[in-house]
Amino acid sequence: MSYELLITSSRGDYPVCIAPGAFRAMLDERPGQPVIADAFFADALAAVGDRLIVVEAVEGNKTMGGGERIIEALRDMGIGRGDHVVAVGGGIVQDVSTLATSLYMRGIPWTYVPTTLLGMTDSCIGGKSSINVGPYKNLAGNFHPPTDIVVDPEFTRTLSAEDLVGGMCEAMKISFCRGPAAFDRYLELQQPARAGDVDAQAALLAHVLGCKKWFIEVDEFDKKERRQLNFGHTFAHALEAATSFRVSHGAAVGIGVVAADHLAVACDLPGAPGLRAHALDLLAGVPDLAPRLAEVDDAAFAKAFLLDKKHGPDGLHVIVPAAGGATEERVLPAGDETMAMVRNALGEAMSEVSG
Ligand SMILES: NC(=O)c1ccc[n+]([C@@H]2O[C@H](COP(=O)([O-])OP(=O)(O)OC[C@H]3O[C@@H](n4cnc5c(N)ncnc54)[C@H](O)[C@@H]3O)[C@@H](O)[C@H]2O)c1
Repeated sequence: MSYELLITSSRGDYPVCIAPGAFRAMLDERPGQPVIADAFFADALAAVGDRLIVVEAVEGNKTMGGGERIIEALRDMGIGRGDHVVAVGGGIVQDVSTLATSLYMRGIPWTYVPTTLLGMTDSCIGGKSSINVGPYKNLAGNFHPPTDIVVDPEFTRTLSAEDLVGGMCEAMKISFCRGPAAFDRYLELQQPARAGDVDAQAALLAHVLGCKKWFIEVDEFDKKERRQLNFGHTFAHALEAATSFRVSHGAAVGIGVVAADHLAVACDLPGAPGLRAHALDLLAGVPDLAPRLAEVDDAAFAKAFLLDKKHGPDGLHVIVPAAGGATEERVLPAGDETMAMVRNALGEAMSEVSG
């Protein structure tokens, strides 16, 4: 079963094809294109020959320097303005490829093939790059959407348990943000998808990307509605920093959703018990999470939380479950009292996750 979506963007509309086997079909249809790929696929893509640029998928390569290395490799290959690049990998390859293709000769077209469940459910549409600068995660970035996206659930077969859970956490978050009907539909679709059925995964991905499509079309440049998709992320980015990135982004988002729900309750909102229970069920599938959470550096967490770029002069901006479903943005006064609530919410979430 295959699904097609068209994403409308001021930088040009782009189609998304979702189908098991779609990647191999695309390679056969478009031979000879330069490929930027996650090193994990270097052997599988050996036939691309000297038009293959390999990127180790580590946060240290999602940087200005990482972008520069790709730009230099494109020049060495003699890539010109008329050429089209394919990027194959998870969010790290996507972020650095967005940067490199947007800057190379002031912009060349590219196709994105996400290979992680997180890339397939979330990051592949929206056109943003998020680049690390020094110790600061996702501090810099720009918009340069691909001309098309090929989503092939066959790639999930080799993912680690933590990366599968991480992708599901993003799928859960996006569906919840879109409202109660979208979240109910997600709950129906997630069971067979988690069991590894690639057709069921394609159906789930079509649903989740359809939910995200609404946000990025109504608010392409992240000024209003799209900010809801930061649900769980202020906690998640701070948690990643506080564990020296030993907790993956997707798992951190799952924990961040649970923490944001505790924060909602502390703010006298009803919270979302069904969402919290589901997030904890997903997170139970991540091996060895408890010992990593036991090492959280509290000062590093607080520092990163306060530095989140979504905060404003009016206070700390957090997305929490709203009364009646979906999410809302709360602005809390910056100060010790709020940070005590935030720390407490994270502590509650971590002890629930650690069992
Ligand atoms: N720009 C955006 O809109 C956006 C959105 C969300 C996340 N992100 C960023 O994405 C990054 C996380 O990306 P991610 O979780 O997709 O993965 P990743 O790129 O960090 O890769 C994670 C690991 O999975 C491996 N891998 C990739 N595909 C595989 C496969 N099919 N089988 C086996 N191993 C595979 C990689 O080699 C790596 O070891 C973070 O840096 C995050 O900030 C960006």
